[in-house]
Amino acid sequence: MATPDSSPDSAVPSDSGRAPTGARRLEVDLGERSYPILIGPGLLAQPACWQPHVRGRQVLVVSNDTVAPLYLEAVEAALAGFDLHRVILPDGEQYKDLDTLNRIFDALLEARLGRDVILVALGGGVVGDMAGFAAACYQRGVAFIQVPTTLLAQVDSSVGGKTGVNHPLGKNMIGAFHQPRAVIADTDTLRTLPERELAAGLAEVVKYGLIRDPAFFDWLEAHREHLLARDADALAEAIERSCRNKAAVVAADEREAGQRALLNLGHTFGHAIEAGMGYGVWLHGEAVAAGMVLAAELSARLGWLDAADVSRARALLAGFGLPVDPPAALSVERWLALMAVDKKVQGGRLRLVLLHGIGRAVVTADFDPAVLRALLADIAGAGAGA
Ligand code: NAD
Ligand code: GLY
Repeated sequence: MATPDSSPDSAVPSDSGRAPTGARRLEVDLGERSYPILIGPGLLAQPACWQPHVRGRQVLVVSNDTVAPLYLEAVEAALAGFDLHRVILPDGEQYKDLDTLNRIFDALLEARLGRDVILVALGGGVVGDMAGFAAACYQRGVAFIQVPTTLLAQVDSSVGGKTGVNHPLGKNMIGAFHQPRAVIADTDTLRTLPERELAAGLAEVVKYGLIRDPAFFDWLEAHREHLLARDADALAEAIERSCRNKAAVVAADEREAGQRALLNLGHTFGHAIEAGMGYGVWLHGEAVAAGMVLAAELSARLGWLDAADVSRARALLAGFGLPVDPPAALSVERWLALMAVDKKVQGGRLRLVLLHGIGRAVVTADFDPAVLRALLADIAGAGAGA
């Protein structure tokens, strides 16, 4: 069982570097804010996973009404002995907003939790982003642990410290960089994940292959069936390789001054789809999948990418059951308005992540806007009233 320290500030046995039983372990190297990512089966229930990271007595677990009935009991059992509190949010991207965020602050304040509280984000990316943002803001910043339970969160959102909520006018527009103290990715939780959510996570996995890891892209093509069948080893391998890629990018550019923007391949198109169709209608990973194909197609129209590579990207994503064609319901002007609300816009110029090959992404404003407009017109032309 975990034994909490008697005082919030008391020294904590430092993490020895040993992974708990069955865990793969890697590190996000950010100097004094470095933290481990643990990946493996049965981690939630192992107090040894938690012990090095929970330093005070007070813990607030933030989860939602889908995940809590599945995994909260195991988490609370592993944390027995701590002063445990919980807040259960409604499930859904449409609740990733300031009103729902306030429920976390209500819970923190009603229980008079202090600066030494640690938040535990138990859920997918929505819970992780919101709990992380609450941790960034509460009393100007408290610690938190990411416990991602979707594939998307295990390979992407739990790592790197981007936290926040949506605004009706733009996705993830209100937020903060705030790194977790640890990421505990229990791969057993993926067994209960709906198929559509598994596929959404695979979109972000494919992203790493497309932006910087062509060997991983080849591996994904070769292991498609294993991943879809939720083969435990294949999933753990995909999660580890994804996290290695993400950790390397984040370590090099934590605040997205440069190369971290590459992690947004397909996201400018994808965020436009999510906001334009209404949050929650397209899953984030689905919108990113269609967005990555658009980025590939635009790259090909600019003469930067071979048609064969566009086909490979499209085929792999479609093979994972993901949508590869964008919705035809948005007009060109709506696309452009939605895409203009993007954190990569600089000096009013849209920057996009585009491809020069599989594994060779660039972030650039140096493309002919007429080519983008023509691509969007073709999409809108496929719908009713472009
Ligand atoms: P999500 O959090 O909405 O989870 C998807 C669904 O699966 C939800 O209904 C959830 O309750 C359910 N669920 C979660 N774990 C489950 C489990 N083990 N078994 C059964 N059901 C489970 O969505 P997501 O795809 O995890 O995350 C998407 C969010 O992450 C978006 O808001 C996106 O903006 C954000 N995101 C953030 C970053 C970042 O760097 N911070 C990166 C990528 C995405
Ligand atoms: N998901 C994009 C990033 O973390 O930067």
